[in-house]
Amino acid sequence: MKKIIIGNWKMNPLTLKDAGKLFSSVTKGIYGIKKTDVVICPPVLYIERLKKLSKKISLGAQDAFWGEVGPFTGQISAHMLYNAGIRYVILGHSERRELGETSEVVNKKVKESLSAGLRPILCIGESIRDESHGYFNLVKNQLEECLNGVSKNSISKVIVMYEPVWAISSTANRRDATSGDCREMAIFIRKILSDKFGGEVANVRIIYGGSVSGKNAEDFLKNGGVDGLLPGRASLDAKKFVEIIKIAEKI
Ligand code: PGA
Repeated sequence: MKKIIIGNWKMNPLTLKDAGKLFSSVTKGIYGIKKTDVVICPPVLYIERLKKLSKKISLGAQDAFWGEVGPFTGQISAHMLYNAGIRYVILGHSERRELGETSEVVNKKVKESLSAGLRPILCIGESIRDESHGYFNLVKNQLEECLNGVSKNSISKVIVMYEPVWAISSTANRRDATSGDCREMAIFIRKILSDKFGGEVANVRIIYGGSVSGKNAEDFLKNGGVDGLLPGRASLDAKKFVEIIKIAEKI
């Protein structure tokens, strides 16, 4: 399966000018990259401008709302994002779950995004690893709730991102996840998906996020059982982000 590297800029950078600089540097840096899909998810406000800077980098949003238009102050619909040239959308990120987003809400957004033509990057992952391994159940429940009602025909459009919250760069007292942690969970996720969707899941990409860097990218891609990576902090530094893309390209 073609590897995918997705940069999650989160609520950065502060100005459109800085966003343009960062995006242009990445564009230059990935000249010659052919085998790896590259996606950047900037704040949605910058998308219109960034879209003009590269054809090679696909754009993603960090959230999407349901409906096409309507009385939902502050929201942006999946259909509007699609019309603005966006093709991917991160849904259910732990930072949004922290603000109160439930799997039920994420499920509505996943279905709406699919019907709008976007590829959802569905985030799942546990906050802590308890000794009784309850986190497996938690991940299973998140996955099943978020994909409830998604059809076999559309499942291959979904990218499942496993992101253990305890490994995210901004988590207090964070620790590193290993490629072994990742592999075990990737196998578990694929099993749940195949029980639910059958053979279609062979085409579903499972990716890893959580302090991805140039130092660990090769290990996660080679030994973590995943088809891509989603760096956050490292995607805000063009050199570091390009390094990760080049590692993926070589594998
Ligand atoms: P990080 O963020 O790479 O800075 O840990 C990844 C994410 O939370 O999307």
